[in-house]
Amino acid sequence: MSRTLRVASIAGDGIGPEVVAAALPILDRAAALEDAGIAWEHLPLGADHYLATGETLPQATFEHLRDDVDAIFVGALGDPRVPGNEHAREILLGLRFRLDLYVNFRPVKLYHPDLTPLKPAAARQRGSAAVGAVADPSTRQSLDSPIDFVIFRENTEGSYLARGTAMGEGTADEEQISHEVHTALKAGRIIRAAFDWARAHGRTLVTMADKSNAIPAHRLWQRLFREIGDEYPTIECEHRYVDAIAMEFVRTPERFQVVVTNNLYGDILSDLGAGLVGGLGLAASANLHPGRPGLFEPVHGSAPPLAGKGVANPMAACLTGALLFEQVGLPRAAAALEHAVWSALADGVRTADLGGTASTASAAQVVLAHLA
Ligand code: NAD
Ligand code: IPM
Ligand code: MN
Repeated sequence: MSRTLRVASIAGDGIGPEVVAAALPILDRAAALEDAGIAWEHLPLGADHYLATGETLPQATFEHLRDDVDAIFVGALGDPRVPGNEHAREILLGLRFRLDLYVNFRPVKLYHPDLTPLKPAAARQRGSAAVGAVADPSTRQSLDSPIDFVIFRENTEGSYLARGTAMGEGTADEEQISHEVHTALKAGRIIRAAFDWARAHGRTLVTMADKSNAIPAHRLWQRLFREIGDEYPTIECEHRYVDAIAMEFVRTPERFQVVVTNNLYGDILSDLGAGLVGGLGLAASANLHPGRPGLFEPVHGSAPPLAGKGVANPMAACLTGALLFEQVGLPRAAAALEHAVWSALADGVRTADLGGTASTASAAQVVLAHLA
């Protein structure tokens, strides 16, 4: 091995441990293809640990994750036994905020034409070569896809800071006030990250979504988007109100390339995006601060009704591993892993969320076999 990565895993709750267990050998094998190994460190954080000890994210663990690892790999956090979700907020949102992982990078990519619920998708696909490359498993040459865009979700402010006041709780006069915070520094840096990524990846259109017609604070996003966009003359800038973009995602998803938006809208639009291309069982995400260790997690949650049944789709966790490899500088491992998932889908492997009968373990087995 020419390189050993130190990766902390937080399998977490519900289906988290199942998808992480399925993905780990796959990540190991993909890394080996690029002559790298992974030294895994399994952290027992999650609902069980919280209920047993009262601990969410101990300070020493936080410092260890901040100082000593190359990446953090998360399954999912959320458990019906913790109805206030405080452990998940302190672990997941805590790590995003305290490590200042300001880019939440969420690709939306159609890996097989059958996976989209959009009826006319076949007729709208972008160029016949791309259609053939995705639809015909025998070619296996290209991962060109008719729906292929990335959401840049601001990850450190917006509606997620839990700032506000509460009065008269439990009474008829109860009033809950939640502050939505947008600063030039934080909105500006995610907009810049979206443009930088677009330029580095040959994308020519960046779309910013807000609700500035109803929420005056969002005019800050308008100003910054115009100013920063002017610095990227080769990239077209367009604005959409978030309600309108939600409709357009469904009607013409193939026209989007890079979408940048605030924390809450990015959360919602990324589940909508996942729904366009097969659902949460296939949606990956990376929480990044360029130049620092990142936190990598599927977009999905702990899916309590599926937990313990061995039926969760492990592909989102696998694709999340590909994002991890990209970030740590193992591009061949990343490409091989993404290609292996695509190949398994081309083979017809479908877990229940995709309408099939494959188990977590059998789906993972096929992905692993494609990495040989
Ligand atoms: P969810 O993502 O857990 O589930 C939504 C739907 O998608 C369900 O129908 C579920 O069965 C399905 N699904 C999700 N992942 C799947 C997979 N890998 N394979 C097959 N089907 C899958 O969202 P939810 O039900 O709204 O939330 C459940 C819990 O997860 C809550 O506590 C929530 O706060 C938490 N959550 C955590 C994260 C995270 O840890 N990153 C993300 C979202 C939600
Ligand atoms: C996500 C999740 C989280 C979020 C929850 C669990 C707090 O939905 O990662 O998309 O809203 O960011
Ligand atoms: Mn979400």
